[in-house]
Amino acid sequence: MKTVGIIGINGKVGQTLLAQMQRVKKPFQLKTFGRNDEIPPLDIAVLCTDNPVSAQLVPQLKTRVKFLIDMSSEFRMAEGVPLVIPEINPHAITSQTHLIASPNCTTTGLVMSLAPLKAFYNFKEVFFCSYQAISGGGKILLDDFHKPGSLYANNCVPLIGSIQKNGHTSEELKGLYETRKIMELPSLKVYCHTVRVAVENAHSLGVTLKADKPFDLQQVKNLWNHFPNLSYSEKVITPKEASGQETTFICRLRLDVEDPHIIHYFVTFDNLLKGAAMNGRQIVELLLEKF
Ligand SMILES: NC(=O)c1ccc[n+]([C@@H]2O[C@H](COP(=O)([O-])OP(=O)(O)OC[C@H]3O[C@@H](n4cnc5c(N)ncnc54)[C@H](OP(=O)(O)O)[C@@H]3O)[C@@H](O)[C@H]2O)c1
Repeated sequence: MKTVGIIGINGKVGQTLLAQMQRVKKPFQLKTFGRNDEIPPLDIAVLCTDNPVSAQLVPQLKTRVKFLIDMSSEFRMAEGVPLVIPEINPHAITSQTHLIASPNCTTTGLVMSLAPLKAFYNFKEVFFCSYQAISGGGKILLDDFHKPGSLYANNCVPLIGSIQKNGHTSEELKGLYETRKIMELPSLKVYCHTVRVAVENAHSLGVTLKADKPFDLQQVKNLWNHFPNLSYSEKVITPKEASGQETTFICRLRLDVEDPHIIHYFVTFDNLLKGAAMNGRQIVELLLEKF
C-alpha cells in the first residue's frame, strides 16, 4: 500500500488536509509529522510548511520521497516544477515529476474562474482586488487577530507578504506570475491589489476581465456551472457561505457599462480548502490514480 505523509501536521493547512484525506477513496497508509519528527521513506508527502522550512526539507527529502507536494511558494515559479490545480492542468504532472507546487490561494480562486472560459475567449487583460481572510496567514495571524488591539480587527489592510523593490507586494506578484504559469498564458496582463480583511476564513476577489470579443453572459454562466467544483449563483454569495465548502462560488456577473468585451464578477472560496488542503488532497488522489 502507498504511504502518504503530511508534514506540518499542526498548522492550519496540515489540520485541514488531515480531515480532507478521509475523502480519498484509494487505499493508502497515512503518516503525519510535526516539527523535529524524523521522516522515513514515503511514496507521497505533502509539505504544509512555510517557505524556509520547505526550502530546507525539499532537498533533504529528494531521495526519500517519490512525489513531494509543496504548499509553500518557495518552488512555485521554478523551471520544471509543475504548479498544479487538478481541474485545470493535471497534464503538467508526468511520471518524471518529483516536486509539485500547489498554488497561492488567491491565485487559485482567480484561475478557477478563468480556466473554463479560456477555450472560448482570448483574454486581453484581467484585474482583481482581493479580500483575503485572516486564516490565509496561518495560525500565527489567527492568534494575532483574536488578541485585543489587533491591526486586523474591524479593518482592511492593503499589505500581504512584503513590499518588493517595484512597490508591489509579494502576494500581488504571485497573482501575476502564478496566473500566467497555471493558465499557460505567459504574456497575460494581470493587474492586482491584495488586501487582508477582517474575515476569519474564505477569500474573495472582485474581478474585471477583458477579452478580444464581446462576452455572452449566458455562455459564461454555463461554462462556469459545467466546470468541476465551480458554481455560478444569481444570488449574492459571501465568504461566510463559502467557508467550509469545496466549491468556488462566483456571483454578480455583469457586462461593463460601456464595453461588452469586459465582464465584472465576484469570486469567493475557502482558502484553506480549494486554496490549499483540498487542492493538495486532489493532487494526492491524482498521483494515487495515475502513478
Ligand atoms: N493558510 C492558507 O490559506 C494557505 C493557502 C495556500 C498556501 N498556504 C501555504 O501553506 C503553508 C502552511 O500554511 P499554514 O497556514 O498551515 O501555516 P501555519 O498554520 O503557520 O502552519 C505551519 C506549520 O509548519 C510547522 N513546521 C514548522 N517547521 C516544521 C518542520 N521542520 N517540520 C514539520 N513541521 C514544521 C509548524 O509547526 P509548529 O506547530 O510546531 O509551529 C506549523 O504547524 C505555508 O507555506 C503557506 O504559505 C497557506
